[in-house]
Formats: sequence, C-alpha cells, structure tokens
Amino acid sequence: MPGSPAAIAGARGPGEIVLPEVAMHLYRPNEPVTVKVTRNEVCTSRKAAGFVRHVEFDVSGTLLEGKVVPGQSIGVMAPGVDAKGRPHAVRLYSVASPTLGEDGAGKVISTTVKRTIDEHWETHRLFLGVASNYLCDLQEGEEVRLSGPNGKRFVLPTDHSAHDYLFFATGTGIAPFRGMVMDLLSKKSDSRVALVMGSPYATDLLYHDLFTRLSAEHERFTYLTAISREKQADGHDPMYVQDRLRTNRDELGAMLSNGRTLVYVCGLAGMELGIFKQMARILPEAALEQYLTVEPQAMSDIESWDRKMLNRQVKHSKRMFLEVYA
Ligand code: A2P
Repeated sequence: MPGSPAAIAGARGPGEIVLPEVAMHLYRPNEPVTVKVTRNEVCTSRKAAGFVRHVEFDVSGTLLEGKVVPGQSIGVMAPGVDAKGRPHAVRLYSVASPTLGEDGAGKVISTTVKRTIDEHWETHRLFLGVASNYLCDLQEGEEVRLSGPNGKRFVLPTDHSAHDYLFFATGTGIAPFRGMVMDLLSKKSDSRVALVMGSPYATDLLYHDLFTRLSAEHERFTYLTAISREKQADGHDPMYVQDRLRTNRDELGAMLSNGRTLVYVCGLAGMELGIFKQMARILPEAALEQYLTVEPQAMSDIESWDRKMLNRQVKHSKRMFLEVYA
C-alpha cells in the first residue's frame, strides 16, 4: 500500500511496530547520480591502527534530497574496471546521516568507510579494497556516482516515542546508529536510547566524541563502549558488546523487560549469536520471549548455541532488527 505505514504482522496491539514507507532505488546502479563530496574526515582517534573515514555528499537538487534515512544504504560506483575488464560492481555503504541530513535540510548525506587493506592469502601480496579506498581517497569537491537508497527493514519505527531503543554496533556497524541516535534525540520524547559500541581498542571507537557529547546532553541517552583487546576505562576486563548486558544489567535488563524496547544489531556476522546467548542467560522468561523464541531443548543448553541454530531452534522476533555482514 504505497503511502501508508507498513504494519509488521505479529506485533499488533500495544507496542505495535509500524515502520515507515521509505524511498527506494531512486537511482539504479546502471543510471547513477553524480554528486560532489563536501567533507571527508577521519572518525577514529588519530592513533587508530585502521583508517575509517566519515564522507559527506551534497545531494541537493537530486532525487536523493530529503529521501535517505538512517538504516538505508547507498551504492557507490568506483570508476575503472576489474581484472576481467568489467566495470566495478556497485558497493553498498550504510548511511550515517540523520533523516534531515548533515545540514538539517536533507541536502547532505554521509557514510562511514573503513579502508580494506589486507594481504592475499597465497601470494602474500597487498590487497586493497576498490570501493573503500576510492571513497577514502576522495577529496572535497570531487565527484562520485551513487545509486539507491537501498533497504527498508532496518529503519526506525514511524512513531519514535512508542518505543525505547537498544543499539549494538561493532566497527563501521555504528553508521546507522549515528543517524538514528541523532534522529531520536532531535525530538522531545521520553524514549530511552542506549548504544553499545564495540571495537578492538579505545582508539578505534567511531564518532566517540559525538556520542560522549550527546550522552552528556541527554539524560535519556546511554552510551556504552565494549573494547575487546584492552581493559575498559571503567576497569572491566576486555569484552564484546553483549557483555555490557551483564556489566550494565540493571539498566539494560530493565529496558529489555519493559515491553517497549526494540533491539537493533549492526556489524560483524556472529555478533547476533553472542547477543542472543547473553539475553537468554540474563533475561527472565517473560522478557526473553518478546525477543526470542527458543526451543525447550536449546534453552536447557545455551552455551552450545551456534549460528546454524539461528532461525531454527532460536528465532528472533520482530522486536529485533539485524544487519550483519561477513
Ligand atoms: P576482536 O577482533 O578483538 O575479536 P572492527 O570492525 O573495528 O575490527 O571491530 C569489530 C569489533 O567486534 C572488535 O572489537 C571485535 O573483537 C569484535 N567482535 C568480533 N567478533 C565478535 C562477535 N562474534 N561478537 C561481538 N563482537 C565481536
């Protein structure tokens, strides 16, 4: 039904989850739009070992203006051809900007890009990801070809104030949550918002200054980090994002038990399994069943859960939004 909100089956009644109809495929990869880069800056600490950049595009005057929401992605067409002489395939990047764009008027959108730098396994020669390095190299004023937007499922509900939000991100999986947190905090509301960001070292945290500032400004926003290869600033041992459900159980457990909370997970494939397991360990049955349906046999042996059991013995509900990638 074009123009009307899409109600998610199985979640009707109080706490119903209604997602907006978002614009899709305004530009196809074979007919991309050419726009200019307006900003390209590092979004980690200067001491980070990897290179992650925040890149902004001026989409004013194009169909993308005002039409791209956080949780969607845009396609990037790197120039040139691959080893077989074919144009490079489109690569999708998550939108990092809020609904009103970086400029408050929907004219400037952004993404978060990590340079792919690796060694070929067999030849041990340098491997550079085509699109990520192309995007990271772009200078202000240079042109880039975009398609999209893509995706309609991993978005905020139509009525922000009907829910509370718990976001889990690893690495550049933070991109959609940057825009979503900015959207949620931009309006007066009682909704609670908690973000857990995971990275190897504290220097790798993305948009850390922004989230720290927002958490100081908004009592209803909690920003937590989970550093996997060194101790936490609060003295806890190295941890993954799901471990924050244990260390911050009072707050996060209460959110997950209040009947209003939606959980969004974005980042490395595998992180959803760890989050599901931790939820099963700590949540009372009535709270857990809002998010997961677990077969009794699986429930009796949470430690043995593996990815093959997902969508089978362990199924997530419509209250959980997952965007994970290898
Ligand atoms: P680690 O690599 O130390 O095992 P980045 O994308 O910047 O590399 O960050 C990804 C973060 O997610 C790292 O801290 C990484 O930890 C962590 N991570 C890796 N696998 C999982 C998983 N299955 N669940 C949660 N976090 C994970």
